Amino acid sequence: MKVRLLSALVASTVLAFAGSAMAAPMIVKFSHVVAEKTPKGQAALKFKELAEKYLPGKVEVQVFPSSQLFGDAKEVEAVLLGDVQFIAPSLSKFDRFTKKLQVYDLPFMFPSTEVLDKFQSGPQGQALLTEMKSKGLLGLAYWHNGMKELSTNKDKLARPEDVSGLKFRIQASDVLEAQFRAVGANPQKMAFSEVYQALQTGVVDGQENTWSNIYSQKFFEVQKTIAETNHGVIDYMVVTNAPWWDKLPADIKAGLSKAMNEATAYGNKIASDLNDEARAKIVDANKAKIQKLSKEDLAAWQKAMAPVWKQFEPGIGADLIKAASSAGN
Ligand code: LMR
Repeated sequence: MKVRLLSALVASTVLAFAGSAMAAPMIVKFSHVVAEKTPKGQAALKFKELAEKYLPGKVEVQVFPSSQLFGDAKEVEAVLLGDVQFIAPSLSKFDRFTKKLQVYDLPFMFPSTEVLDKFQSGPQGQALLTEMKSKGLLGLAYWHNGMKELSTNKDKLARPEDVSGLKFRIQASDVLEAQFRAVGANPQKMAFSEVYQALQTGVVDGQENTWSNIYSQKFFEVQKTIAETNHGVIDYMVVTNAPWWDKLPADIKAGLSKAMNEATAYGNKIASDLNDEARAKIVDANKAKIQKLSKEDLAAWQKAMAPVWKQFEPGIGADLIKAASSAGN
């Protein structure tokens, strides 16, 4: 009797262990640098929700917002080392891997996210997703944020001469560095997580970003004026570790791809509303003043920044610039 009881106990323990060993889900980490209530923050949470819905018990997605796990300086290396599986850096942050993505930073290249989306959905835009694959980074999707606005700690921000000599925080982008030098300003490359304090302490006088980032990072609390220049875009490429992705079991890859496609559609659909809501909250806060710009003001910014296109044509390629600049036609 005792032997039968003992063997039943052993069998149930083995089964339980086997069951628990089989049930351990694959942990997939998604790291990013913005707040949750932003287009990228919401799209990442939607990806988590859908991936775990389509792959119940097989995958657990852990999302780390606001540079909690990795910030600007480390997130790409972390993907290459396999310490994180998904990141979605701004398209401005890939200079070290390819010069072709610099097309997205050219000032006044895209008049709206809709035109940007048309280019990205076309053959050239799609080809850019795999441009860095040989270096280990595979682009899975483009996620939108919105148009960039300028802000400073000064009362006037209507014309390029209003930023002459001012220090501007920029993303780690050579095009953006040239853009601010073209208007006589002093650009400083800086991680996103350091911007608020740099503005608050006067390390920099101004910055450029979308309404949702200006609001969620409280930049509007430490800036005097925001000019609605819409002079560029903040847009993202969701990237994963190429060899890791290629080796995924077919069912896992299919489920993650389906979740990524649907999260992309969801995030890109709400991006514009989130930026509109952020702008309205900034107006209501009555802290930074929003500087109205005339057509002549905007023409002056565009004229001053125009030489940047030619300067970066050798790295980007004239064909790519032509395709991007005609996407809205
Ligand atoms: C920035 O660094 O200003 C942005 O790229 C941050 C982000 O991810 O929106």
